[in-house]
Amino acid sequence: MAFQKVWCALALGFLLPFSCAHTDFFTSIGHMTDLINTEKDLVVSLKDYIKAEESKLEQIKKWAEKLDQLTATATKDPEGFLGHPVNAFKLMKRLNTEWGELESLVLKDMSDGFISNMTIQRQFFPNDEDQTGAAKALLRLQDTYNLDTDTLSRGNLPGVKHKSFLTAEDCFELGKIAYTEADYYHTELWMEQALKQLDEGEVSSADKVYILDYLSYAVYQQGDLGKAMALTRRLLELDPEHQRANGNMKYFEYIMAKEKEANKSSTDSEEQQEKETEVKKKDYLPERRKYEMLCRGEGLKMLSRATVHDPETGKLTTAHYRVSKSAWLSGYESPVVSRINTRIQDLTGLDVSTAEELQVANYGVGGQYEPHFDFGRKDEPDAFKELGTGNRIATWLFYMSDVSAGGATVFPEVGASVWPRKGTAVFWYNLFPSGEGDYSTRHAACPVLVGNKWVSNKWLHERGQEFRRPCTLSELE
Ligand code: OGA
Ligand code: FE2
Repeated sequence: MAFQKVWCALALGFLLPFSCAHTDFFTSIGHMTDLINTEKDLVVSLKDYIKAEESKLEQIKKWAEKLDQLTATATKDPEGFLGHPVNAFKLMKRLNTEWGELESLVLKDMSDGFISNMTIQRQFFPNDEDQTGAAKALLRLQDTYNLDTDTLSRGNLPGVKHKSFLTAEDCFELGKIAYTEADYYHTELWMEQALKQLDEGEVSSADKVYILDYLSYAVYQQGDLGKAMALTRRLLELDPEHQRANGNMKYFEYIMAKEKEANKSSTDSEEQQEKETEVKKKDYLPERRKYEMLCRGEGLKMLSRATVHDPETGKLTTAHYRVSKSAWLSGYESPVVSRINTRIQDLTGLDVSTAEELQVANYGVGGQYEPHFDFGRKDEPDAFKELGTGNRIATWLFYMSDVSAGGATVFPEVGASVWPRKGTAVFWYNLFPSGEGDYSTRHAACPVLVGNKWVSNKWLHERGQEFRRPCTLSELE
């Protein structure tokens, strides 16, 4: 996974972002559990190191105290002191041997164990891309669930077991990541939060000047010239010589003057424009917004949860699938899987021998599956060609865990949300009896806000259902 440093200052006088492409990220709790164990190991070896260092320092201290007393006595009456032959001998011995030994002790490296442990474990550490991915997941959750920045920073999320808050430094980091994505909306939110926490007296290494620099630029990018100027003024109070801020201030003043000039002549076209955007706002409910509304439980229709209860599916969830986000389980591998397959066949009346293997998936915090269809579309006739069992006629989805917050399965076309509850399942037909795809089955897995989500699904195929679900003649019946 490659990493690019993503911002730099240009001659223009603004911080300019370089967007750096990398794959969409969502975490798997299984993988992160390994990291928690790694951290635990490291703390143990760090503590061992501290103990070793402390005992070394203790020995050195004792030596220093002993010598302190000795030299105090000796310097008071050097001749009398050396008149004792044992003292004379011991002085020779000390200087010839013991100080050398002490020197070796001082130089002795106690960090071996810890450092070699670090070297081994570091291979498995997340990298910059992972950190960015986790930050972006947090920003995504903020949007999807309409979370107030302050609430998120103070860790006041619904259903959390382990409350955790963000420092001003953390907020600054999130703001910077948003900034490198040219996401000035979140840059503003998080830089403002960082500033707020500092203003409230939080002790931090985060620097107000840096924060204000980002913040004023983000605000300017979003078109609020007045606020950008006020922030830049605040920056200049803290650092009057700040070059970029001084340059920006001049530029802002220039733009402001120009805008005033232009405003004098063109009020009519503005009114027209305003009207147009208003119309757009009303009519335009893109899937994304509808999807997010459903995720928050603001949908029109709420489906009650399906009634299938299979406590045995829980057994599948033990963490074999630590690294990957999903795994395929064959009925041959385990009698439990085989029993589940049979049960799906009995419940749906559909032949499972042509179905795909049971897929187990794990969504960590921020994990989601954006709106999609499970069936192959006409423009992708080869989607399931290899299987030779036709299209995905139906989907069976088990919820194998409760989710503390978020993680619903939503159907934007239908306006429905299904909330995961351990031991329940949802089932739907993807195809009309004619074999035509039913576009109202478009669905998504909402991001997990708190907790983690385990599901398993079974995709049933057309072959084998000829007598179980006979065709009809009309296409969309
Ligand atoms: C899928 C899917 C929904 C969910 O895996 O195809 O749509 O809630 N999953 O996990
Ligand atoms: Fe799906």
